[in-house]
Amino acid sequence: MAVKIKVHDRKAPENTVLPLAQDERLADRLAQIASENGLDATALQNDFKAEAKETLLVYLPKSVGAARRIFLVGVGKKGNFSDFQLALRSFCFKNKSKLPLKIGVDLRHFPAEKIEQVADAAAAGMLLGLYQTKPDEPKKGEKPAPHFGDGGSELEILVASENLETASEAARRGQVFAEVQSQILELVNRPSNRKTPALLADFAEKAARDCGFKVKVLLRKEIEKEGLTALLAVNQGSPNTPAFLILEYKPEKNVKFKIQNVKFKTVGLVGKGVTFDTGGISIKPSTNMSYMKSDMGGAAAVLGTFMAVARLGLPVHLVGAIPSTENMVDGAGAKPGDVFPTYSGKTIEITDTDAEGRIILADGLAWLVKNRKPDVLIDLATLTGSIVRSLGPTAAGLFSQNDKLAAALESAGQATGERLWRMPLWEEYGSDLKSDVADLRNYTGKLHSEACSAAKFLENFTDEHPAWAHLDIAGTAFGDSEFATGKSATAFGVRLLTEFCNTDLQVGEK
Ligand code: BES
Ligand code: ZN
Ligand code: ZN
Repeated sequence: MAVKIKVHDRKAPENTVLPLAQDERLADRLAQIASENGLDATALQNDFKAEAKETLLVYLPKSVGAARRIFLVGVGKKGNFSDFQLALRSFCFKNKSKLPLKIGVDLRHFPAEKIEQVADAAAAGMLLGLYQTKPDEPKKGEKPAPHFGDGGSELEILVASENLETASEAARRGQVFAEVQSQILELVNRPSNRKTPALLADFAEKAARDCGFKVKVLLRKEIEKEGLTALLAVNQGSPNTPAFLILEYKPEKNVKFKIQNVKFKTVGLVGKGVTFDTGGISIKPSTNMSYMKSDMGGAAAVLGTFMAVARLGLPVHLVGAIPSTENMVDGAGAKPGDVFPTYSGKTIEITDTDAEGRIILADGLAWLVKNRKPDVLIDLATLTGSIVRSLGPTAAGLFSQNDKLAAALESAGQATGERLWRMPLWEEYGSDLKSDVADLRNYTGKLHSEACSAAKFLENFTDEHPAWAHLDIAGTAFGDSEFATGKSATAFGVRLLTEFCNTDLQVGEK
């Protein structure tokens, strides 16, 4: 992204965005804006209510002052981080062809305690608004004037002088997130023929080089050698090699401040990397099956978290595993009733080939627990339609037996707007996973509580880890937004997990 961010307390540029919350001070603020610019206060108050995403463009005569176009942007009632970010993202996305190379965002009217949040959200929102699912068509004939987002673009964030330091740091953070999330959006939106597991591995290797973490890629031969047999079982129907990505970020090198003799907590992340899910022999209905290119949303969230944590140099030791494969319909594919060994030693009867995520996660979780022994273990997966039906796009399902871990994740969810809702892991949900021919089966056969039994299935492969959480992100990873006519990627999980890694991780015991 070619945008340079400048945070300052000087004059606003000619084109400035003015985000406004819908609170009790709105009328006064509008009156003040009106008087500063020679406008009619009542008309402004009538025409602009600061509803979330509402915009009003005010043109000013040159004689009045520096700014000649003020874009009033409503951020709604709550005024929280995600509403603010979403309002600016949507504004920038819809108006970018009107915006010149240099754009200001005026935050001078926000109180000091809000500055960190709004400067982060302003930078992130304006930069994310430049994301597009496909590049602009080259225009025939006359070249359009360069606009915000083209080379040489500048985003000026205006704050009061006492908030300069806080705002600069926060805007830098917002920029890191926007850059990482834009890459994650591209990856999840990418068609499956352009992101086979081997290509996903290429993405991870490049991201690791660019951001400062390590990745080791196992392809078919090494996966066989390592004994990741559950991943191989799901891959049987695919002509493309599976991939198993092993990730690590150590803070010592990246951390900006010197901390001596500190043992950083190790957070283990596992992400479902199914690059396309046809369902296999238990084939899915054809309507909207193309959305199943997003069945690697968990893997994308893990990759994005490594990228953001490494770029921000956070003081946490991250380890990760991403099992990746396609789930295809093929004569060589696994069939319902087939039994396979897994990395953990437990055997699985595949009763439904469409419940493939939990099979590959079984190997991912068991491998990471055995070989990296993380203090905290979190997996993310677009795992069940059941969680979509329960929580929709509003929240992801959170499953954990550890109350402290659940609370820490829930509060990271509140802060970032990537919300989580806690779901139960009661014993009853596991009882239907008993198999007559293997240690357990992958699907209960019952048409209820599938998100809960899927989580219970995964628990079998965590080696009774005291601080494990499973996030079912099937409803939140891919959704409606201004970016596309149908559903598209959301990068859900990147902000959430990075925020979680930045909190005090005293969650080791139940
Ligand atoms: N990838 C799907 C889950 C999914 C559904 C993700 C909708 C995103 C949107 C998963 O592999 C799946 O097919 N799950 C089955 C499990 C069932 C067979 C127990 C489902 O939820 O229908
Ligand atoms: Zn499936
Ligand atoms: Zn799936």
